[in-house]
Amino acid sequence: MIDIAYADWLELMFRWLHLIAGIAWIGSSFYFIFLDLSLRNSDALPTGVKGASWNVHGGGFYFMQKYTVAPDTMPEELHWFKWEAYFTWISGFSLMIIIYYWGAESFLIDKEVMDLNQWQAIGISIGAFIVGWVVYDQLCKSPIGKNAIALSAIVFVMILLAAYGFTHVYSGRGAFVHVGAMVGTIMVANVFFVIIPNQKVVVADLIAGREPAAYLGDDAKQRSTHNNYLTLPVLLMMISSHFPMVFSNKHSWLVVALVIIIGGIIRDYYNAKNAGGSGNRLKWQWPVAAAFMVVLIVFISYREDVKVAEDDQLESNDVLAIVQTRCVSCHAAKTTDEDIEEAPGGVKLETIAEIKKYSAKILKQTVLTNAMPLANKTKMTKKERQGLGDWIRRGMPVEED
Ligand code: HEC
Repeated sequence: MIDIAYADWLELMFRWLHLIAGIAWIGSSFYFIFLDLSLRNSDALPTGVKGASWNVHGGGFYFMQKYTVAPDTMPEELHWFKWEAYFTWISGFSLMIIIYYWGAESFLIDKEVMDLNQWQAIGISIGAFIVGWVVYDQLCKSPIGKNAIALSAIVFVMILLAAYGFTHVYSGRGAFVHVGAMVGTIMVANVFFVIIPNQKVVVADLIAGREPAAYLGDDAKQRSTHNNYLTLPVLLMMISSHFPMVFSNKHSWLVVALVIIIGGIIRDYYNAKNAGGSGNRLKWQWPVAAAFMVVLIVFISYREDVKVAEDDQLESNDVLAIVQTRCVSCHAAKTTDEDIEEAPGGVKLETIAEIKKYSAKILKQTVLTNAMPLANKTKMTKKERQGLGDWIRRGMPVEED
């Protein structure tokens, strides 16, 4: 096994690359959506130009025109935008391997959810990405694909079903990241299998002076609209791995649903704004998205405080004993867990003082959610979680002896 320090460097490098590629991809796609929607027609434009847009940036003016047929002469240099998307996927899948496949026992598998071994977990993961794309692609190509609303509704339900399925196979964190990765894979596959190939045919047709078949543009437009609305939700899914209230939830499919709705609504605001919309067209999105956010925060991530009967209340010695059996294999100066070489995040839990120091985080990771013990490797019971939570909430009394 590679030294843990090198593994961390590997992860950091790929995270860096993933972020850079993702920013480049999303940035250029947001720009082109804006550009498309900001095009205005006028009589002064050359033939073949559908509309133009004036932009100012970095001290210069840009005059962008969109040709819907080939210009009289093809430019010598034509810029394509595709490597941003491909590298986002390549770096993302690399991260999946480094974090979730390599560390499957810790981050992907939860034996209480499903008793998988590493190879089974990896096989299901890769299979799910392939099946996810094939089902989505067939839905788009089927007669339902002609009806944009019906298709979006079915794709939405499909994503929720996948989320529900993943939560019954993987740990909470593993499940949530899989929903994001499955949707992200669909988005990149849209670029790779539909948008770019169709564009190539269109360009060839235009150069040859043929009228390109309408379906080429329609199909590409359908896929890029889906990508447009899925961008913001996927981003949240990708950055949530350190927020157990998001992924460590019995109903995380419901969290996924709300995140997609909220992200989609906010995208709609920008789409409408870029297209020159005003007034009521722009008034509803932020308040409605905010209302859904409140629903998500207050009702879905909310946890009932469990009252522990006086007889069952724990004393600090009991707490120390629980933490010693359930946590210190990883959270100690000298760890004993074979996958963990250093106390994660510097969190050591060997004394009451240390437990007190991290009590707020422990509450969040172990009581309000089941994020810790990682993958519940040490088999902490519900009763222990409740007792621990109750002790923290009672102000962590330490008995003298
Ligand atoms: C199998 C190893 C393992 C066990 C057992 C374990 N943890 Fe962790 N813990 C981790 C890892 C790995 C991380 C870092 C997680 C990450 O990077 O998202 C972590 C992170 C944490 C954090 C820091 C979170 C933050 O926001 O920085 C806290 C607090 C924590 N664990 C508490 C506990 C408690 C309490 C227990 C016992 C009930 C426990 N852990 C058991 C591996 C473990």
